[in-house]
Amino acid sequence: MTTRETKSPKTPRKPKAPPKPAPAPEPTSEPEDDAPTAEAVRRDAWIYELIHRGHRGDKLFYRRVCRGAERVLELGCGYGRLLLPIAEVAREVVGVETHPGLVERLEARIAALPPERAARVAVARQDMRGPLPAGPFDRVVIPYNGLFCLPSEADQIACLAAARAVVTPDGRLFFDAYVIDEESLTPGDVGAAPVADEYEHVLTVLAPEGQFDIYEQNVEYPGAQRIDAHFRVVLSDEEGGETVFAHSVEHRFLLPTQIEPVLAAGGWRLTSLAGGWRGARFGRRSALMVVEAEPA
Ligand SMILES: C[S@@+](CC[C@H](N)C(=O)[O-])C[C@H]1O[C@@H](n2cnc3c(N)ncnc32)[C@H](O)[C@@H]1O
Repeated sequence: MTTRETKSPKTPRKPKAPPKPAPAPEPTSEPEDDAPTAEAVRRDAWIYELIHRGHRGDKLFYRRVCRGAERVLELGCGYGRLLLPIAEVAREVVGVETHPGLVERLEARIAALPPERAARVAVARQDMRGPLPAGPFDRVVIPYNGLFCLPSEADQIACLAAARAVVTPDGRLFFDAYVIDEESLTPGDVGAAPVADEYEHVLTVLAPEGQFDIYEQNVEYPGAQRIDAHFRVVLSDEEGGETVFAHSVEHRFLLPTQIEPVLAAGGWRLTSLAGGWRGARFGRRSALMVVEAEPA
């Protein structure tokens, strides 16, 4: 995940289209192998939070399935969008997250909680492929496409196996992810040239800093089950100036038919595959997979 900043000339306050021609994120001014500065890491987390706002209905769902749990583990907890609401309904919650800027934002939120609640929330800067914080946990959750953030099937299985190792015998795993329409995929073998679509305006956010217009471009890697999302975030300030940030996320998606075997390889048995937050039957037109599994 990366963020870079460029200044563009002054333009009208609400751009109708991204700066033209819509370019892929430009090379950073720092060499790739240089560690990002603390400021760049913080800015990346801030942009991340602006873009990752979750699904309508997911908070209710995860609170419902975690209500009354003794210990909940969230893998890839980000800035605590769900971890903190889950902490209101479970006795103890632990989040795992690798991004230092997101961990910092979450730690600040935990520190601002009433002491009684803060004592029941923890975040570990760790990799969800394991080893994970010591169990047992009676719920493990990987919300909002978290499993797709791992770059290969082997990594996804390693994560599921690590989760299996810290769950109670009657514990449950829940995760959700978007569904890719197989027919929309570009045919081709691994190694074929990636296919990029145009940047599209996807969201406007009004914040104290000004108006953010967010544009997204997807780049598909044929045969690799990989789609990268590139975001350009245009901040328009009161004087009509603009700052453009770039942010990228790489996803290795799973098809619905792969969920059961991948779970099995990680030591889990699929108990439910729904097409929505209220248990709607999963079907050909479902845009979402909501998965529940138990230890095999
Ligand atoms: C799509 S976000 C979901 C965030 C959060 N669960 C939510 O629902 O808002 C996935 C998160 O997983 C984190 N992540 C990616 N790879 C990871 C890894 N190997 N170990 C731990 N966290 C990881 C990312 O930094 C990001 O915060």
